Amino acid sequence: MHLFLTEPGDESPLADELKRFFAGAETELLAPELVRSSVTLQSAPAPLLAFARQTLPYATPVSAVSIREWSERLFEATVARLPESQPWRLHLASHYGGEGAGANRMCFIRDAFRELLRRKRRHLLRFWEEEEGPFHAKTSLVQLLLTAPDAGFLSIATAPQPWHWRRCVWPFVKGEVPVAVDKAAPSRAFAKLLEAELRLGQRIAAGETCVDLGACPGSWTYVAVNRGAHVIAVDRSPLREDMMANPLVTFQQGDAFKFAPEMPVDWLLCDVIAAPERSVGLLLDWLRARRCRRFIVTIKFKGQADYAKLDPLKHALPTLAEEFFLVRLCANKNEACVAGSVALAPASTVTITDEAR
Ligand SMILES: C[S@@+](CC[C@H](N)C(=O)[O-])C[C@H]1O[C@@H](n2cnc3c(N)ncnc32)[C@H](O)[C@@H]1O
Repeated sequence: MHLFLTEPGDESPLADELKRFFAGAETELLAPELVRSSVTLQSAPAPLLAFARQTLPYATPVSAVSIREWSERLFEATVARLPESQPWRLHLASHYGGEGAGANRMCFIRDAFRELLRRKRRHLLRFWEEEEGPFHAKTSLVQLLLTAPDAGFLSIATAPQPWHWRRCVWPFVKGEVPVAVDKAAPSRAFAKLLEAELRLGQRIAAGETCVDLGACPGSWTYVAVNRGAHVIAVDRSPLREDMMANPLVTFQQGDAFKFAPEMPVDWLLCDVIAAPERSVGLLLDWLRARRCRRFIVTIKFKGQADYAKLDPLKHALPTLAEEFFLVRLCANKNEACVAGSVALAPASTVTITDEAR
């Protein structure tokens, strides 16, 4: 049994998405934002679930009363399951009582568990990684999600599972990335770009070239030029004045869907407001024509009927991109974000369905 966490209100889109991806999968809503399913997670095709904020593979119900008992549950499970001398991570989180509830309890459990390891399994403690960077093939992940002070679910995904399922098992606790704040940016949209970079594990760097489609008022451009990248910004409307005057910015007024760069660029950034099938089509055209090395694109929804329009993208991405994800970001509102890097060589054996063309 696997558990999936989602954004408030996305429980039924997630259930529908699971049913479409896993052909009729049974799902059950356990609590708000918490969906259970017994689908079979395989490494190929790796699950690509836009509405799953986090996945807890092979989650089993656990209960304990005291902090000491919780730490012992964790200790027993990790000692029995984690591979020797390989990195592992621990996500401890509560899912009850609103924001901040259970936070102290989590800290106490973590401390008690660490102390147990220090006394009884120092070796395991040495391989405990406290970071949130992308998983590697040797990383294992232990997740304990408390749904009440004395009950919850324990999930252990041993290496290489977190890496195989990295498109829906995130290195962030509950899959959450705090939404960034920068009052100097032209709009709050910049937070989407920062979150997408974090999830991708790749950042726009000095000297790179970006095309920013639908760039106005200019906060994605702002992030890129602040890093020292060159930006060709395309929009029907001009950007904020300081962005228009920035020597690293070339502004082109016009239709984003008609724009193609003269030479391949490092990044396609696209935040155009358009029907989902148009944004999906634009991205697939860019990927097939190899106009960029990496991409971060938002897909906007008008209503729930639009969610299934992500399916052609899910079919096509594995053949056209290498590292990629498709997810509703914490900073996204009624939209999802697709990001990745372009495949080095076309996958000759895989055909793209007509639907995806
Ligand atoms: C959500 S805003 C982009 C915000 C931007 N990423 C930022 O960080 O400031 C969407 C933009 O898409 C632009 N847009 C919509 N359709 C377009 C089209 N066909 N061609 C160019 N721009 C378009 C709109 O003018 C609008 O500025």
